[in-house]
Amino acid sequence: MFNTTSHIAFTIVALLATSPISTVMGHMRILKPAPREGTTTDPAASLTNGDSKGLCQGLPKGSPIDVQAGNTLSLKFTDGSKNEGAAHGGGHCQFGVSYDGGETFVVVHDEFKHCFKKGPSSDNTPEVTNYDIELPADLPDGEAVFGWVWNNAIGNREFYMNCIDINVTGGGSGFTGPKMVYPNLNDNVTIDEFNGNYDTGMELYDGREEMTVGSGSGSDSGGAKGKSAGGSKGGDKASGSKEAGSSKEKVTNSEANSAAEEEEEKEEKDNQAESSYPPEVEERR
Ligand SMILES: *[C@@H]1O[C@H](CO)[C@@H](O)[C@H](O)[C@H]1NC(C)=O
Ligand SMILES: *[C@@H]1O[C@H](CO)[C@@H](O)[C@H](O)[C@H]1NC(C)=O
Repeated sequence: MFNTTSHIAFTIVALLATSPISTVMGHMRILKPAPREGTTTDPAASLTNGDSKGLCQGLPKGSPIDVQAGNTLSLKFTDGSKNEGAAHGGGHCQFGVSYDGGETFVVVHDEFKHCFKKGPSSDNTPEVTNYDIELPADLPDGEAVFGWVWNNAIGNREFYMNCIDINVTGGGSGFTGPKMVYPNLNDNVTIDEFNGNYDTGMELYDGREEMTVGSGSGSDSGGAKGKSAGGSKGGDKASGSKEAGSSKEKVTNSEANSAAEEEEEKEEKDNQAESSYPPEVEERR
């Protein structure tokens, strides 16, 4: 007999390797203002494929664009043309600003459930591709990072993130709002496919901590839902040094992160041992 058996086996393996991944369309990403150089339509992390580029797609800081606190930042996303912009049935988007180089972001806007969509949907067509984000007037001046993250409703469990380097001007003394969360990043917390339930994962957003950028809780206008719970109003606005507060916070955060990362790495290894991906094709007949 000739080598037909192994030839067939080879063909099957080749088909298995290519067929399930139908590379149709790049994902959503910000087109304008230009995000960090090197930004691609690949998500920052794909739990399904076990890879991660990290926050801001792991890209280095670029030269910032000037933005004015209190003004609107108009974002233009891919719209499905040029094979770019799969909307994966919508999902949860957070938009925020970071003053520690893109590690922690205070959220300034959310688009939950149907980001890029007008309502429930099970397809890839983006219906909303422009978002006007109001930058709170109390954001402190200085170099910062504007970040968008997205957890998709349908498809592989992935984490999408683009970052734009900004220079905030005309700002205020400080802004308090929800601290951005990163589900699906590095096996952190997973949001499952929605399967029609658009509340999927909402508890993670509802449970976000508050964080403050700048010298203090100078405003009632941001983040806080209603009236501030107790506490005194004035007083803290005038005094207090910006730098001391924020650099201290930075150290604490990075320490906490590296500890958490170590643990997560361990866990990830355990997980990988249990179920190796991609599954190997064993039987050849
Ligand atoms: C940020 O804006 C301020 C005020 O216009 C300016 O002095 C500063 O040089 C800018 N920084 C960068 C990095 O562009
Ligand atoms: C995991 O999620 C928490 C809460 O959102 C966040 O503070 C932390 O940075 C995340 N860690 C990683 C590695 O994504």
